[in-house]
Amino acid sequence: MKNRLSRLIQRDGRAMFLPIDHGYFQGPTTRLEEPGKTIAPLIDYVDGIMLTRGILRNCVDPAINKPIILRVSGGTSMARRDELDQEGIITSVREAIRLNASAVSMSVFVGASGEHQTLLNLARLVDECEDYGIPVMAVTAVGAELEKRDARYLALASRIAAELGARVVKTYYCEEGFEKVVRGCPVPIVIAGGPKVDSEMEVFSWVHDAIQKGAIGVNLGRNIWQHDHPVAMAKAIRAVIHENATPKEAQQVFESERLAA
Ligand code: R5P
Repeated sequence: MKNRLSRLIQRDGRAMFLPIDHGYFQGPTTRLEEPGKTIAPLIDYVDGIMLTRGILRNCVDPAINKPIILRVSGGTSMARRDELDQEGIITSVREAIRLNASAVSMSVFVGASGEHQTLLNLARLVDECEDYGIPVMAVTAVGAELEKRDARYLALASRIAAELGARVVKTYYCEEGFEKVVRGCPVPIVIAGGPKVDSEMEVFSWVHDAIQKGAIGVNLGRNIWQHDHPVAMAKAIRAVIHENATPKEAQQVFESERLAA
């Protein structure tokens, strides 16, 4: 368990994960139509990639030496948006071991009709993964209800995920009260980015503030690979996470990388 976690969480205690799992319910999302091409220029700047077995098998060179966080929950689609919270476990732990995953990830939908089912999915998955020393990263998902992302909700969902045995929790950042989300969650927290926003500075500010308030890093996808300058975004966010860059310094990294490209 410690060995796998140490591949993902770096010696400085921080982590930058790149999720490219969105297709498991969104299909060929914009700029993730060919995931292998999307990640090729970014892979050197991230500490791990999160994806499904189908994309790992078909689109990622097995020779890449990058820790894998294997998404193992799903079974829903954007075609039935009201049922996004009805996920099940879609990949066995045996398969995760065979694919040499450093962790597995799955979603819980606290406050939705799929709450009970997805929390039990988490508990059962943790039971099985602990036998093999595989960390489970719980994703506190909100489906289409993005407005749910306030501190009270995120603290509730993150704490429950940790109580049920998640070794890492992926949640959302919130401007007000994020420190309470971190304080109430006894395992490391990484933040997602959510849908792409227009300003790079906004992303750098979220990441910086989240880290100041105790998050260990990010599991952030669309605001990197849907950007016109994904490598510059990845390098700037990496500077915030691993070099303690301020949002302003990150913007400078972004601008110089953008011009150099
Ligand atoms: C979404 O369902 C996926 O699980 C993503 O891994 C997660 O939302 C993080 O990606 P993004 O930063 O694009 O929101």
